[in-house]
Amino acid sequence: MTKLSKYIAQAGYSSRRGATELIKSGAVKVNGTVVTQPFYEVQEKDAVKVNNKLIVQQKKLYLLFNKPQDTICTLSDPQDRNTIAHFFKHIPQRLYPIGRLDRNTTGLIIMTNDGELAQKLSHPKYEIPKTYTVTLHRPITEQDLDHLKKGIMLHDGPMKVDDVKVVSIQAPKTVIVTIHSGRNHIIKRLFGALKYFVKKLDRPNIAGLTKKGITVGTYRELTEKEIEKLKNYSDKNK
Ligand code: URA
Repeated sequence: MTKLSKYIAQAGYSSRRGATELIKSGAVKVNGTVVTQPFYEVQEKDAVKVNNKLIVQQKKLYLLFNKPQDTICTLSDPQDRNTIAHFFKHIPQRLYPIGRLDRNTTGLIIMTNDGELAQKLSHPKYEIPKTYTVTLHRPITEQDLDHLKKGIMLHDGPMKVDDVKVVSIQAPKTVIVTIHSGRNHIIKRLFGALKYFVKKLDRPNIAGLTKKGITVGTYRELTEKEIEKLKNYSDKNK
């Protein structure tokens, strides 16, 4: 038995919160009768319909996608810009990104139809480690590397990196930064606070997963073990 809101979210129809709203609005019927109680326990034989469409539990998909530039992390865009949804058109499941990357940021993002996990892990309190390769408009100073490690005050609170290093003496404008924050535009804001402009941003690693074998614009399915590890990130913070 599963709660009605969870059942709808698990089917990939919407997030858990979205499902609760749908239920309360009277859009959900169980065996032909409107049910407005999100905690209703769905029985195995129940036929659940949202806006008169039967909800079927689909296979859960967890994909690791290497996002190209000029692609936005929303599923549909009223301005008709390139969205990540374009890369998953052939997949019947409705996939959500876990977190976001800016339009011109490249690199790894996890896509799933597990609405509940996506919503949980997108929350800043779930501390998934992420590594970024950041190309700046000028070489970074030793002093600023220190600032980043000690912490910088941003308008939404202090922020410090887990690790930061210059790629090489030959490339002093490119730094590798590891953080576990999911705050919006965090890398650009961090460097902006120190008067650096981020010219290029790439995420080669998320939750220990790398781009190996995933060329730009393609994806691979996560293994059972990798999915388990991801779920543990959300459980640890319950
Ligand atoms: N930080 C940013 O500023 N942009 C991203 O896309 C990701 C992290």
